[in-house]
Amino acid sequence: MEEKLKKIQQDFLNKTKDTKTLAQLDELFIALFGKNGQLDELSKQFKDVPKDELKKVGPLFNQIKQQLEISINEKRGTIRKQIYQSLQNEKFEIPSERTGRKEKKGHLHPVTQFEEDIVKLFEKLGFVQTDAPQIDTDYNNFEVLNIPENHPARDLWDTFYIDTTNYKLQTNKLLLRTHTSNAQIRILKNNKPPIRVMTLGRCFRYENADARHEHTFEQFEIVYVDKDVSMTHLQYLSEYFFKSILGKGIQARLRPKYYPFVEPGVGVDASCAFCKGKGCKVCAGTGWLELAGAGMIHPGVLTRGGIDPDQYSGIAWGVGIERMTMLKYGIEDLRSLKSGDLKFLGRF
Ligand code: PHE
Repeated sequence: MEEKLKKIQQDFLNKTKDTKTLAQLDELFIALFGKNGQLDELSKQFKDVPKDELKKVGPLFNQIKQQLEISINEKRGTIRKQIYQSLQNEKFEIPSERTGRKEKKGHLHPVTQFEEDIVKLFEKLGFVQTDAPQIDTDYNNFEVLNIPENHPARDLWDTFYIDTTNYKLQTNKLLLRTHTSNAQIRILKNNKPPIRVMTLGRCFRYENADARHEHTFEQFEIVYVDKDVSMTHLQYLSEYFFKSILGKGIQARLRPKYYPFVEPGVGVDASCAFCKGKGCKVCAGTGWLELAGAGMIHPGVLTRGGIDPDQYSGIAWGVGIERMTMLKYGIEDLRSLKSGDLKFLGRF
């Protein structure tokens, strides 16, 4: 009996050493410990072993069983480690014959690439990036920006209001932010002039989707507050932005436009990149494309942000990122950007 046991011990220690895969190890484990496995079979013979011998064989059986279990477990650890190491060295690449593209590298989404470009551009001017929530209070998105409830200006933004009647929340007025301007009050409250901050991210509007509109889209916004900030800065920043992104020949034009949280407010147009200002289908014959909304931050908003409007002035400036991406890359339908279509995205 003892001999048989030692034979199993040697045999399985050797086999364990030789295994190369987890599957082989599992087989070995079952052959040893499984029902009708070698140890099971052996223990069935215990009833024929004289008591004296059993006293010796019993503990030996347990000891060997334990030893074999430990050695299999250790080997399992070793194989796993090898697998992890080889995975770390492995490069995940879809073969080019499957993607139809020559280069095998992956890349960021065109909108993300574009956002990185914009952020870098304004970093150079000393702007620092912040963030604000996409689900926000009616107060931060509207009221604090001079847009009280029932004010006609609300019609400028088709809003997704959130029905909170079934939730016990501190505020029952929540919505999906309609613009990144919900960051303005946070930026003003939490910083002291000079303030040079940028923010970007998803916004939502209750819109019918078409080639130029989506209910879910991205905006980029800057807030600049200091002594003697004026509309001249706005003109300069607009040109800096358009020329860097769309090309040196592009001009910026400020046109009066109403936004309740700026005074004066402007629509910022870029000369059409397609027809160079001559007038074409893209710009509806005008030679200009409206790309951004902006203006001098309203004294009421500054005051609510804890900043004295007699000492400081500021500008806010916001642009729709997908619209700009469309222009930059000549994309006809804005909806393709969120289609998940790799054939389309692979072009960038
Ligand atoms: N938040 C405005 C919009 O989305 C744009 C804007 C930003 C206007 C900053 C003025 C100042 O329509």
